[in-house]
Amino acid sequence: MALIDNIPALLEEVKQLTASTASELEELRIKYLSKKGLIPQLMTEFRDVAPERKRELGVSINNLKTAAQERINTLREEIEANGTSTEEKPDLTRTAYPTPLGTRHPISIVRDEIIDIFARLGFCLADGPEVEDDWHVFGAMNFPDDHPARDMQDTFFIEAHPDVILRTHTSSVQSRVMEKQQPPIRVICPGRVYRNETISARAHCFFHQIEGLYVDEKVSFTDLKQVLLLFAQEMFGKETKIRLRPSYFPFTEPSAEMDISCNICGGKGCSFCKQTGWVEILGCGMVDPAVLDANGIDSSKYSGYAFGLGVERITNLKYQVKDLRLFSENDKRFLEEFTSA
Ligand code: DAH
Repeated sequence: MALIDNIPALLEEVKQLTASTASELEELRIKYLSKKGLIPQLMTEFRDVAPERKRELGVSINNLKTAAQERINTLREEIEANGTSTEEKPDLTRTAYPTPLGTRHPISIVRDEIIDIFARLGFCLADGPEVEDDWHVFGAMNFPDDHPARDMQDTFFIEAHPDVILRTHTSSVQSRVMEKQQPPIRVICPGRVYRNETISARAHCFFHQIEGLYVDEKVSFTDLKQVLLLFAQEMFGKETKIRLRPSYFPFTEPSAEMDISCNICGGKGCSFCKQTGWVEILGCGMVDPAVLDANGIDSSKYSGYAFGLGVERITNLKYQVKDLRLFSENDKRFLEEFTSA
């Protein structure tokens, strides 16, 4: 059927046109009014109609053209009034934008990894307060009264209450556990500790430790060494070696410091291990019988070992963070570099 026989239907169609954006409206204008649009096409067909129909069809085509122009103008005004002339309507069916999740702090990632290794070796978690008393931090841990750690230089005291201090090590949790529980005891105690240090790339006034304590009948230094070797190899890889050097702590006898073969250079020597091939990661030893007795455990029946490691140290070894201050500045660019496995 020729277009020209369809004018009444087209007129109805034009009156019902709708558009909600400027681009939809432009499509309508092109369809009806542009050079190749339907109305110019009708004009072309009009040339060939029989002379007796010219008058009637001429009027209809003009009416159609006017109706189309008017409808399109009305729609343009509506769109402009809604302010949506250039914007697309929001797509209410699309899925939500993803919410960016935070990342885990590197200290938390490494702490949990350490906890996980010791949990597999049968250690339970134990906890104690960061604001402590002198007894749990020093007295119960066999510190002599004149030990330099009791000096204000190293420890944060509260002037009005000299007995209240910020714990300087997680060894205080050893005492908290032993005063409540009889052997067998096998715990690890992660937590934050405080020291009165000037803040620099290599020292901070707070950092994180994990304390380990095992007390039972016939616990020996061999047990300690084996557990620490297993830990080092789980944490840093099967090829990791350990080395124990004699040391001194008031709460252990004998005492040792443990080095691991530097996992950055593989033991060959680098700037991190100061060309020695070894890096110190923890202090340890057999619990001094005086500590067992001071905390209500019979030292003639039981023996134990203890160790304390620095989480920042282990994190530095894993991720080679050069400046301790980065751990507490909360710079998002730094934090987003770490992902837990
Ligand atoms: N408390 C010690 C420190 O802060 C670390 C430590 C050494 C803990 C030997 C222990 C240990 O349990 O046996 O430096």
